[in-house]
Amino acid sequence: MTDGLIAPHGGELIINMAAEAERAALEEKAKSLPTITVGSRQLADLEMLANGAYSPLGGFMGQADYLSVVKEMHLSNGLPWTVPITLPITPEQAEAIKTDSQVALVNAEGELQAVMTVTEKYGYDKHLEAREVYRTEEEAHPGVKNVYQQADVLLGGPVRVVRLQNQAFAKYRYTPTQSRALFAERGWKRVVGFQTRNPVHRAHEYIQKCALETVDGLYLHPLVGDTKGDDIPADVRMRCYEVLFENYYPANRVILGVLPAAMRYAGPREAVFHALMRKNYGCSHFIVGRDHAGVGNYYGTYDAQHIFTNFDPAKLGITPMAFEHAFFCRVCNSMASTKTCPHGNDQHVVLSGTKVRQMLRAGECPPPEFSRPEVAKVLVEAMRQPVSQ
Ligand code: ADX
Repeated sequence: MTDGLIAPHGGELIINMAAEAERAALEEKAKSLPTITVGSRQLADLEMLANGAYSPLGGFMGQADYLSVVKEMHLSNGLPWTVPITLPITPEQAEAIKTDSQVALVNAEGELQAVMTVTEKYGYDKHLEAREVYRTEEEAHPGVKNVYQQADVLLGGPVRVVRLQNQAFAKYRYTPTQSRALFAERGWKRVVGFQTRNPVHRAHEYIQKCALETVDGLYLHPLVGDTKGDDIPADVRMRCYEVLFENYYPANRVILGVLPAAMRYAGPREAVFHALMRKNYGCSHFIVGRDHAGVGNYYGTYDAQHIFTNFDPAKLGITPMAFEHAFFCRVCNSMASTKTCPHGNDQHVVLSGTKVRQMLRAGECPPPEFSRPEVAKVLVEAMRQPVSQ
C-alpha cells in the first residue's frame, strides 16, 4: 500500500456494497425474489460486509468456513477469524429456498437491504458453537443465549448490499476506506485502535494514552451496534466521548469513529475479532486490556490477551498491545496498573460497572479519580432515575 498503512485482512478491502447502477437493477430483481426478514444483528453484519470491515468475507459463511472458524479459529483458507458470521433461518424458510438461487434480505419494514446468492443451507450444532466460541454452554451468557434463540438452519453465500439500515452517528460512521484516508491525510502509519462498549473512564484513557506514546495516532472506535440491556446506551456514550475529546485529547493525534457491529460478549475470541476489524479500518495495533469483551465471570482477566499466542503474527497482521488492570492509586497519586504500582488494593480506586451504574441512577457522580468530571456529568444527567414514591 502506498499510504504505508497496514494491508486489510486478506490483502484488500472486500466491499460488498452495490454501486449506484447495480442498485437499481437489484431493486428491480428483488421484486420477484423470495424474502427473508433479518434482525438487527444481521443488519449490522450487512453493514460490516458492505463497507469492507469484514474483509475478506463476501457474505454469510458457508459450512466449511463456519466449522473451521468454530473449531480452528481460522477461515478455511487459513486466515485467522474467530467469530461466525451467519444468517439463521427456520427449517420452513429453508424448505422454500433453493441453493444457487437468490433471496431478498429485507428489514422489519419490508425494505430491501441486500440480495444474497444462496450457495448453501446447512444445520449446525448450537452447543458446539457455544462451547468453542463462548467457552460455556450456559444460557445465562448473553452470547450463548443468542445462539440458542437463533433459528436452526444457516444460509451461506455472497451478498450485494443495497441499503444501510441504521445511520445513527453519521458524522462518525467512517467506513474502512474513509478511516484509512483520514489516517493517511495525517501522515499516520502506526495507528492503535481502541474498542469500547463503555463510557471512557480514566483507566481506559490511561491505557489509550500509554499506547499513543509509542505510535502515530489513536483511533477511538466505540462499538455502537447491539449491546446488552444494562450497558450504557450508545447515544449517551457518544456524548461522553465528545466531552473527553474537547477537554483531554489532542485533536491532531486522535480520531473518533464508530463501529456498527453488534457485541457478542465472546471475551477472548471477540478480542481477536475486534482486532481483525480494526485492521481493516487501518489500525496497525490494537489495545487489549483486562477482560476484553467479557461478561460475568466467564473469562479469566487476561484470557483475551493469551489467545493471541494461537495465531501466526504474520497472518494476524495487527499487533495486540496488552495492558494490565489500570486504576488511580492514591499513594502514587496517579494512574497506574498492577504492573507499575507497588501499593495495595486498598489504595486503588476501582469501581465495578454495576457499582457505577448504581451511583449514576442515584444521581451520584463517580469520583474524579475514576471518571473525568465532564464525563461524569453527562452520565449522571442521562442515567439519573426519579426516586420512586
Ligand atoms: S469491552 O467489552 O469493549 O472490552 P470496555 O469498554 O470496558 O469493554 O473495555 C474496552 C477496553 O479497555 C478493553 O480492551 C478492556 O480490556 C480495557 N479495559 C477496561 N477497563 C480496564 C481497566 N480498568 N484496566 C485495563 N484495561 C481495561
